[in-house]
Amino acid sequence: MSSEKVMIFDTTLRDGEQAAGSRLGVREKLEIARQLARLGVDIIEAGFPISSPKDFEAVQLLSREIHGPIICALSRAIIADIDACGKALAKAKKSRIHTGLGVSDIHIAGKFSDDKYGKTLEEKKAKAIEMAIAAVKHAKQYTDDVEFYTEDSGRAQPEYLFQILEAVIDAGATVLNIPDTTGYAIPYEFGVLIKNIKERVPNIDKATISVHCHDDLGMAVANSLAGVRNGARQVECTINGVGERAGNAAMEEVVMAIRTRKDFFDIDTNIESKHFYRTSRMVAEMLGFDVPPNKAVVGTNAFAHSSGIHVDGVLKKRETYEIMTPEDVGSPKSRVVLTARTGRHGVRHRLEELGYSLTAEELEHVYARFLDVADKKKEVFNEDLVAIITDEVRTIEHVYDLEYLHVVCETAKQPTATVKIKTADGLAEATANGDGPVDAAYLAICNAIGLCPRIEKYSIRAVTEGKDAMGEATVRIRNDYGSFIGRGVSTDIIEASAKAYVDAINRMVTIENQDNQKTKE
Ligand code: KIV
Ligand code: ZN
Repeated sequence: MSSEKVMIFDTTLRDGEQAAGSRLGVREKLEIARQLARLGVDIIEAGFPISSPKDFEAVQLLSREIHGPIICALSRAIIADIDACGKALAKAKKSRIHTGLGVSDIHIAGKFSDDKYGKTLEEKKAKAIEMAIAAVKHAKQYTDDVEFYTEDSGRAQPEYLFQILEAVIDAGATVLNIPDTTGYAIPYEFGVLIKNIKERVPNIDKATISVHCHDDLGMAVANSLAGVRNGARQVECTINGVGERAGNAAMEEVVMAIRTRKDFFDIDTNIESKHFYRTSRMVAEMLGFDVPPNKAVVGTNAFAHSSGIHVDGVLKKRETYEIMTPEDVGSPKSRVVLTARTGRHGVRHRLEELGYSLTAEELEHVYARFLDVADKKKEVFNEDLVAIITDEVRTIEHVYDLEYLHVVCETAKQPTATVKIKTADGLAEATANGDGPVDAAYLAICNAIGLCPRIEKYSIRAVTEGKDAMGEATVRIRNDYGSFIGRGVSTDIIEASAKAYVDAINRMVTIENQDNQKTKE
């Protein structure tokens, strides 16, 4: 196996931040950069200094504060842009200037439409080569490490691309970025392009080939990997694949593909992949984009198993349905999501994890009830299972029933709740103030029935969708005898919460009474 490495060039702070609707503050960029350094990226593209004073400041700050990765700044092939990069990067221990221009006919004709660049397309293309050479030479005055991008390479004329690459290497470029700017390329074709660059650019041995792919057709990662397979030794990517339009290649996917399929790529990266999950969440939070649950590598479902066949397989041998471990990427443990499709084996396994070992007959009863619940809900949680078990094993008496609930909330005033609870002795009524409406309702219930078990856990979630969604409250209470879980459902979440509390108290009182009775017998 080779010990060769692919350099990971992170552009979350530059191309990633170009995603519509996002803007990172300078301090946020610093925090993300620290995390990227922990992750082990080789290069951090910190910003585009000429584009705004904030970008300039961010590049300056990261140059001062981040040690380890190379700090890179973006410019167009324009002298003033390059000077801004040079100044912003002045304090960096290791700096890189990333300069370049568009090379496809569409870009050259469109961006260099002014006659000052030449009258014909051919003249404009010749002018672009001159500008490219001048830009690289100018950047070399600031740092030896100069990367040149040929924007829209995916749609460029290959012969022209080879020509400009040869020229910029001669001018001193050490890294050649081959961007598929518009996400137009197909993996096979992009791989061939990289292979041809290696074979047809005469001085290519003096530079590293980098790939920078966009995801407009959902192929950014596949194209990047095709590039690696054909000789690219740097991949430009972002955390969670954030970036312009549909985004860039997702770093976690590129790295984990290379690592998981070492047999195929025979190469590695310097990335400490156990930091992926945390980095992903940090970037998502700061950019304000949620990570989709089914996102490869870092989605919350990436290690979740639900269908009976999968659950059965994974419980017998993890490798049957997992090609990486959650520990590899720092993700929470693999989990079995209990749904109507999970099967008996998965349910029994979860019950055992919760400390219940049931006979085959008991399991059948619980499983039948489980299916009823699972048909009504997207996911069956531990609390639901515990409630099913309690119901199957015990008959819970309705010692208390919530007959009436009235809550008043006013701005700047403590909420007040009034409840009427039906008991064996008639109606018990009480009123209480609380820190919030649920707290007030719970205190009123305590006052009405004269019992106030401690609340250990409280949660509320929507079980249907929309403004009129049904809310399901789950509450776990504890007294000296043990802990008990109650549930309540209503379109009014305060009522659902009050019902859950009364339900938990009914379980507590019934089970305690039944057990006392048994002891006496
Ligand atoms: O997608 C692209 O072409 C770019 C360049 C500026 C490198 O982001
Ligand atoms: Zn880009």
